[in-house]
Amino acid sequence: MARDKVKENEGGWSRFIWNPERREFLGRTGGSWFKIFIFYLVFYGCLAGIFIGTIQVLLLTISEFEPKYQDRVAPPGLTQVPKAVKTEIKFTLKTNSTYADYVKSINQFLEKYDSSRQTSEMFENCGDANTYNERGALNNKDGLKKSCIFKREWLGDCSGLKDDTYGFKYGKPCVIVKLNRIVSFKPIPPQNISLPAGIAANYNPFVLPIHCQGKKEEDDTKFNNVKYFGMNGYPGFPLNYYPYYGKLLQPEYLQPLVAVQFTNLTLDTEIRIECKAYGENIAYHDKDRFQGRFDIKFEIKSS
Ligand SMILES: *[C@@H]1O[C@H](CO)[C@@H](O)[C@H](O)[C@H]1NC(C)=O
Ligand SMILES: *[C@@H]1O[C@H](CO)[C@@H](O)[C@H](O)[C@H]1NC(C)=O
Ligand SMILES: *[C@@H]1O[C@H](CO)[C@@H](O)[C@H](O)[C@H]1NC(C)=O
Repeated sequence: MARDKVKENEGGWSRFIWNPERREFLGRTGGSWFKIFIFYLVFYGCLAGIFIGTIQVLLLTISEFEPKYQDRVAPPGLTQVPKAVKTEIKFTLKTNSTYADYVKSINQFLEKYDSSRQTSEMFENCGDANTYNERGALNNKDGLKKSCIFKREWLGDCSGLKDDTYGFKYGKPCVIVKLNRIVSFKPIPPQNISLPAGIAANYNPFVLPIHCQGKKEEDDTKFNNVKYFGMNGYPGFPLNYYPYYGKLLQPEYLQPLVAVQFTNLTLDTEIRIECKAYGENIAYHDKDRFQGRFDIKFEIKSS
């Protein structure tokens, strides 16, 4: 009984797959299958055509070199090297292994600022920090853009050329500060009013200054003598290095740097310091701790 049923079923299935009397495959004749095939071929062909067409039209309207929409890009972040865990720099003065990682990360970062790495013809000397040269539009009419040389020596005691521990071994650590790159962003320096006293005296309309101070008033009593090293001795980013033209147009671009050395930090206590960039188009945000500023916490143990 059971076997018969199976046979019947098998017969039904195989008849469905191939019905020799009506010459139907899966319930349709060859001609019918062919029409369906042609229909879907044309249908999907048209879909693909519309898809490719719209993408081509879109591509025609955008430039390879300039971002079309940049209105969602926040003002640039200010970041420091060494990148510290929870932005905390904690070490013991007498034990060089406790700061070896910080030193290593600065070493690695500054390698690309070695003079031997800036010898190609894609670099040029851009003059000093008291001028601004217009460098043209964001397109390849004049070919690739040269990049301004940034000399590692300008970072003085923080260049690593004289002291290969960047001050860490003396309890006077350096941090290297940079403004994150944003294609076609041109910083606008601040007015010479409402600037912290430390940088107002050194005001230069062609430099976007940075300044570090205690996060809270009590922190300010725990350190002093902060030294800044930058191009021509200015504690900021020279405008001549902006805008950045993007990887395609300016493959060798180097961001200008500022080194900040904290030369008198109280030992054996936590010190919170905030460094800020000042400019008309630099904004700060409560939730984004790196927009235009960053926090850093030092704790140096004497033993
Ligand atoms: C730490 O100091 C010791 C002795 O002064 C030296 O041999 C060693 O190379 C130093 N280590 C680092 C990472 O600088
Ligand atoms: C900026 O302000 C400082 C102090 O208020 C002043 O000494 C300096 O001359 C000013 N610089 C410029 C370029 O206005
Ligand atoms: C370092 O700071 C302390 C106060 O925190 C001060 O008494 C001392 O004179 C400072 N040292 C130098 C070299 O500035």
